[in-house]
Order: sequence, then C-alpha cells, then structure tokens
Amino acid sequence: MTVRLTINFAKLATPKKGSVLVFSAEDGGLSDAAKACDPGKVLEKAFAITEFTAKSGTSVELIAPDGTGFDRLVVLGVGKASALNEYSWLKLGGTAFAQIRKPNDVSVVLDVDGVQISGSDAANFAAGILLRAYAFDKYKTKKDDGDVKPEKKPAKFTILCAEPAAAKKAFAEVEGVVNGVLLARDLVNEPANILGPIEFAAHATDLEKLGVKVEIFTEKEMKKLGMGALLGVAQGSPRPPRLVVMSWNGGKAKEKPIAFIGKGVVFDTGGNSIKPAAGMEDMKGDMGGAAAVTGLMHALAARKAKANVVGIIGCVENSVDGNAQRPGDIVTSMSGQTIEVLNTDAEGRLVLADALWYCNERFQPKFMVNLATLTGAIMVALGQHHAGLFSNNDELSERLISAGLATQERVWRMPLGADYDKLIDSKNADVKNIGGRYGGAITAAQFLQRFVKETPWAHLDIAGTAMGSPTNEINQSWASGFGVRLLDRLVRDHYEA
Ligand code: BES
Ligand code: MN
Ligand code: ZN
Repeated sequence: MTVRLTINFAKLATPKKGSVLVFSAEDGGLSDAAKACDPGKVLEKAFAITEFTAKSGTSVELIAPDGTGFDRLVVLGVGKASALNEYSWLKLGGTAFAQIRKPNDVSVVLDVDGVQISGSDAANFAAGILLRAYAFDKYKTKKDDGDVKPEKKPAKFTILCAEPAAAKKAFAEVEGVVNGVLLARDLVNEPANILGPIEFAAHATDLEKLGVKVEIFTEKEMKKLGMGALLGVAQGSPRPPRLVVMSWNGGKAKEKPIAFIGKGVVFDTGGNSIKPAAGMEDMKGDMGGAAAVTGLMHALAARKAKANVVGIIGCVENSVDGNAQRPGDIVTSMSGQTIEVLNTDAEGRLVLADALWYCNERFQPKFMVNLATLTGAIMVALGQHHAGLFSNNDELSERLISAGLATQERVWRMPLGADYDKLIDSKNADVKNIGGRYGGAITAAQFLQRFVKETPWAHLDIAGTAMGSPTNEINQSWASGFGVRLLDRLVRDHYEA
C-alpha cells in the first residue's frame, strides 16, 4: 500500500500558501470562508466563463489570484448543500484528492454555505482522501513521467473546519476503518505467488498488535476436526491450508459473539475442472471474502468497537495436480454430511461448509455473516453494483441492506427455498456441490445453508463487487475492499453496547 500523505485538522481560516480548496453549492454558491480566499472576486468571472454551476464533482481551478499568497485555488462543487449526507463527504474527499495533482501542501477550507459541518463530516471527508489516494504500486520500480503516482501527490492535507477538535476525535475512529479497507485491498491485489495460505495467516497474526486474539489451525489440526470438505480443496496444492480464528472481545464478558466468515482461496485454477486461461489471473482475488473479514477485524479493533466479534477465514489454494481432488470424489465434511464433488471449481462452498460449521459449533454466535467471491452467476444476476445477499433471517437482512445504503456498499436480497435446495440433492452422497444450469448463485447459497442450522445467517456473494468492479470517487484500485465499511457499519449501528 502506498499512501504517503498526512492529514491535520485546524480552525477555519484563510490559508496563506500552497494549494487551497474551497467549496461552492448549487443552492448557495460560495461560502463566506471561500469568498475570503478570493478578495479580488475573480471566481465570479471564472464561473461564468467555465459555466460552473457547482454540480457535485465538478470543479474550477485557478492559479492563485493576486494578493492571496497561495499558489492555486480550486473550487469544488458539492451539488445541493441540502442533500449532503455521510457518503457525500467521503465522495467529496475522494474528488478533492483527485483534483490536487501536484503540490504537496494543501489547505481545505471545509465550509459550505448554510451547512453545519460536524466533526464526523470532516472525518469522513478525510477518509475519502485516504481511500482515493490508495494505489497498489509496490511492484512498480519505475514511475512513468506524467503519470499520477502517489508520492507525487500532496504530502500534507490541512482541513480547516468549524470543529477541528471534534474532527480529530472522529477521525481517530474513522482512520481505523479506512486502514481496514486498505488492508483488504492490499490482500486482494497481492499476487498469489506472494500470498499463499501461510502468508495470509501471517497478515491475520499482525492484528495481535491491535489486541485481536489470533489462532491458526494447521492441516493436521483440521484433519482432527474432520474438515474433509476444506481439506479436499487444499490437497492439490503444495502450499498447505490454514484456518484462522480472530477474536475481538470489546463487548461484555459473557455476551455471545457475532461472527464473520470469509472464503480465502488464494488462487482458484478450478482444480481438475480447470478454468479457461483467459482472465484466470483474476483468481488471485478469490480470497476477497477472507480479506474483507480480516480488514473488518482490523477496523473493529483499531476503533475499539464495544462488541464481541469472531472472524474466521479458510485459506486454501485450489490447484491442478496429481493429488488434486477429482470430479466425482466424495468427501465428508465436519458436519458429518457427505458431499459429492461434481465440479472441483465449485470449491469456495466446500471451504465455507467446514468454516461455517466450525464457527457455529464452537461459538454459537448471535449471527453469522459469510463473505465469498463465490459465483460468476451473481454477476449475471446483479452486475457489479450490488453484492448478492442470501439469508434465513429478515432482521439481519434489513440491517445489512440499510448499512449498504449508508455506506454505498450495496447488497440485494436473493431468494432461498426448498425448490432450490432440492437441486443440490446428490445421487451418491448427502449433497452435491453444484446445482443445475440455472440459478447458480442461489444453489451455491443453498449449499452453504445446509451447514448453518437455525443460527441467523447471511451469505454475501461478492464476486462482482470485491474486485474488478467499476472505479469511483473513493476507489481507483482493482480491489475495492468491499465489505469492510458495510460490516463495520452493521456492527456500529446494531451490536455495540
Ligand atoms: N471463484 C469462483 C467464482 C468467481 C468467478 C469469482 C469470477 C470471481 C469472478 C468460484 O470458485 C467458481 O469457480 N464458481 C463457479 C461455480 C460453478 C462451477 C458451479 C462459477 O461461478 O462458474
Ligand atoms: Mn472456483
Ligand atoms: Zn473460487
């Protein structure tokens, strides 16, 4: 991860140097603090010439007017000031970062006419800057001239706002969440030759520094637990699997935890049911669920969430090899249910079957939410702007949908039911790991549901949203870190004392 910038908060003032960013609203024009940065009133003319109307995301840039002392003046449109919400501030932060291309000393005059900008608004604005600034360029040894590279970005952002002390306090928490998102992005972007199951588990172990308890189960221990489904996937790789259990106990001592479970397939060749070559490189991101869970645990621990939370990730590599499992193999899962593996490329559900069962048995959590880049079919169904939500519980679903709207990490509920469940009955075992031709995301979810009993549970199919999804104001990277902000919000809104 390369984010080389610092963020400070200070009292509203008129800056005297560097680049200066001010705001204008469609329904209010320039704020007073912005006007103070334009003593010669050149902006009026600039707006007219450029037909600037302060639509959200638009901007006007000037070489600093005479008598101001600074170098550049950038005006950012915020759209209708009356419509600003939490996500608008994130977006504005992202747009602000994108606007400042060269200088290394930026002052943001965070003032919008008629709007009371809170400390948390300012903190979200800062978060937007950091999220947008992220670039996965650690393997680039040459920086092309003219290309925008992070170290050429501003080193220092000073956010001048009405409540700098409150902003600083809010930012201390928000920054933990941002770093969780960036961690998730880093893990997903990292190529599979560098990030195997053992290396992934080591990243999880890093969370001990934040007070997270981390347990790592080896192949031998998983064998003892009877995790034949997960181990069947792993057996084709020379790199052994790891099951990682992360616990953050920020809640009441005896309170049951909430649980998040992630698919951590560090690379998915498809196994013997091998994938086509074109695009296979994307399967380095098949651990997006595990990355989101790890990023979430980072976020919750960093901001000291008042909740008991368990994060479990199943890290395996799905390889082609003489030892790899074959179509038709029958494995016995930890639950005791036997699984006919008719397609070795439907491996994520096998990993999750044992991880979910283990989680439920050991922790009896209040709920389980699993995340997985599980099916291509979810992209056919929903495109890349919503993750698929499958759940046995209406309350949990509603909460996830609301958290999705607030964070703009949106989820869309999909059906489950007995008719779909029938499609995965197996001729030779209890269940088979693929359904028929249709409803592939649904039959995958039905498979998972056979391993959760009555516990409130939700499955998020993030194949379309965790990687390769459209870039936006707060993400320019292939890996989006999807799920971290969504689930942090879920926890914050409903599960903290
Ligand atoms: N990891 C893939 C799903 C995937 C595809 C994620 C594209 C992201 C982008 C998963 O393991 C898989 O291969 N699913 C199969 C299931 C099929 C064999 C029933 C699929 O979606 O084709
Ligand atoms: Mn697969
Ligand atoms: Zn996969």
